[in-house]
Amino acid sequence: MSSRSFSHEHVAVSLALALIMMLTGRSEAQTQYYGKLIGSFPSSAGQGGVAGTVYAVDNNRLQIVGFSFDGSVTAQFRAGSTGSPSGNGGVLVPNEQGGTGPLGAYNNKKLVLALPEGTTLQDTVRWFAVWGQNSNLGHVTVPDNFDYPRQRNIGEFERRQHQVRSGDVTILNAKQFYIRNLHYDGLGPDAFFWAGQTDSPSSSGFKVPDHRGSSDEKLPRYTGQTITIVLPGDVTVYDIKWLSMWCILFRANFGEVFIPTDLNVPPMVEDVPVPPMPMMNCEELHRDMQVSWTLAGDNLDVELAGRVEDGDYMAFGISGCNDRVCMVGSDVTVAWYDGDTPRAVDYTLKAYSQCSGTSGVCPDDRVGGADNNVNITGRQVNGITRIRYSRPINTGDTTTDKVIDPSQNMYISWAIGPINPSGVAAKHHTRVEDQVRITFGRQASDMCEMIISAMPAPVTPWPTRKIKGDQVTNFTVRIGPTGGRRGFEAITGLPSWGIAYWLNGLLIPELELKRGWNYTFIVEGGDNPATPERYHPFYITDDPIGGYTQKTPAEKQQINVFAGVDERGMPTAAGRYCEYNNPNGDASETSETFAEYARTLQVDCRPGQSAQFTWTPDDNTPDLVYYHCFTHQYLGWKIHVVDEFTSGAVGVSAGTLTVMGALIAGALLLSYIDV
Ligand SMILES: *[C@@H]1O[C@H](CO)[C@@H](O)[C@H](O)[C@H]1NC(C)=O
Ligand SMILES: *[C@@H]1O[C@H](CO)[C@@H](O)[C@H](O)[C@H]1NC(C)=O
Ligand SMILES: *[C@@H]1O[C@H](CO)[C@@H](O)[C@H](O)[C@H]1NC(C)=O
Repeated sequence: MSSRSFSHEHVAVSLALALIMMLTGRSEAQTQYYGKLIGSFPSSAGQGGVAGTVYAVDNNRLQIVGFSFDGSVTAQFRAGSTGSPSGNGGVLVPNEQGGTGPLGAYNNKKLVLALPEGTTLQDTVRWFAVWGQNSNLGHVTVPDNFDYPRQRNIGEFERRQHQVRSGDVTILNAKQFYIRNLHYDGLGPDAFFWAGQTDSPSSSGFKVPDHRGSSDEKLPRYTGQTITIVLPGDVTVYDIKWLSMWCILFRANFGEVFIPTDLNVPPMVEDVPVPPMPMMNCEELHRDMQVSWTLAGDNLDVELAGRVEDGDYMAFGISGCNDRVCMVGSDVTVAWYDGDTPRAVDYTLKAYSQCSGTSGVCPDDRVGGADNNVNITGRQVNGITRIRYSRPINTGDTTTDKVIDPSQNMYISWAIGPINPSGVAAKHHTRVEDQVRITFGRQASDMCEMIISAMPAPVTPWPTRKIKGDQVTNFTVRIGPTGGRRGFEAITGLPSWGIAYWLNGLLIPELELKRGWNYTFIVEGGDNPATPERYHPFYITDDPIGGYTQKTPAEKQQINVFAGVDERGMPTAAGRYCEYNNPNGDASETSETFAEYARTLQVDCRPGQSAQFTWTPDDNTPDLVYYHCFTHQYLGWKIHVVDEFTSGAVGVSAGTLTVMGALIAGALLLSYIDV
């Protein structure tokens, strides 16, 4: 920005402010907007010398202006819902730093306080106080049904000239406008965002910086971008009557929105993060996922936005094949929220399986590459997760990364799926279906509709299946699907890789086995380590997660293995590969019962021998152990080891005896299930 244009802008703003003050008769001090007034602490300074005025920022936050407290007594902020302020009737409100210790001294300070979770000004809080150990040092009262400040939707830009149109405009707070899907042809010679106090748009207005924060350059072309703009200086929405896209030279209004007079919006408090600069391009990958990007020199800035559930990742990157979409060989970023922390990890897809050793769906830095993603930020608003990262178009990692050629129409891989608790991507549940291609260096254009926030309806898990080892002592172990959203994840509360163990034709049954009895496991989970996606040796352990080979020596020290692994740490129960498939597609959501779902499956066995071992739990076996896959995590589930079998109460009464043999081709299986 040149100094000349700076002073120009400065003059414009000052003039505008002078004009506003003239028009409204407000002094400069009064133009400050702190939120909706709740009240002031008593002016007669009592013990502690408490003073200040309390405003509502929104339903969950307070702003105290001119707050003073001498710190001479032990005191905290408290809020309560009934009666008058008291020490035990309310909840502690952390200080402006989030701390909960005694308040220090304050002299005429401005503070923003967040109420504890679940506490709101509208429904919960009726008083807010500075509370000494046994005394009220000053309080304010919140009226019933308090109408707290909130964002306000003010409709679309009027469509007048130069193809101006937009989605709804929202006043986020007293200074920020959020303009959805803005279109403008970019051809106005001297066009700016322009705001003013007159009854309708006119040349007596002032410039409002555009989405780049600039009011030096005329407005660029907009092709459906969603942008945030901020009113300049001390101007707030309370000071203006309209916002327009205006050509100063021709005194022409291209389109405007009017500001309602009955506004009750939050103030812009300093801790409000200014929404990041919008990306210049956007494509919809799926109704639940969009990718936006800006090519910035040798770097690609990417934002992934998705309607994803907690614990789900969004993966996006370059296809493993140059001439079509293929997963193996893809160079993707796996992005998710790890608690409150956005993550965007550089992955490579060496094989179509969980990361194990140097194969599978692995972070680059586990398989000899580097994590090349930087500047990772994220937002989660209204059920939509947005994560941004930047990567070089050429990372120099030849084995784990693809080079992005901005001029080439490149094939794309993307997916959505769960992150497992160790922070590694598990198998996707939603993935690229079409041959998606992107030219990253294209003319900027935003092809995305707003993602509407609405989570799919929750599902009920299949009831847990149990097999009691009193009549059944042989177990055939095979691989099968996880039963969609009602299966493995819903049953265990753990993530799944998309495949799971099936024992005697049941998805991860819980076994009840008696100490001193012999149990035979006939394992058909694959025996060829060269095809990791079909190599699932079976073992029994006290580790709830499994995946023995993935563990460090230290981790191996922490766990016990009871069967299926020899003294050298090698698997002993690797047999031929049998898998239950759903040839007609996944019916987990349409099947009424688990049995109905199981009927849609077919078993497919490769040639070869089963592996077999007999295990006799004994007095040294804990009450709860697990059966798991030697190479992959989260394939198995629980074994309850008992001295005496429980009575029918575990859902294995005779009434639920079901012959599953008829259900699944190729296997005569006798099981107890409680569907
Ligand atoms: C990361 O962010 C910093 C600070 O905003 C910026 O200077 C830098 O260029 C960014 N790096 C990339 C690769 O975008
Ligand atoms: C259990 O497996 C063993 C060993 O394969 C076999 O001899 C036995 O007949 C099986 N028992 C039943 C009830 O199928
Ligand atoms: C278990 O197997 C062992 C070895 O085959 C045998 O000696 C023992 O009697 C069996 N125990 C039971 C309870 O069947």
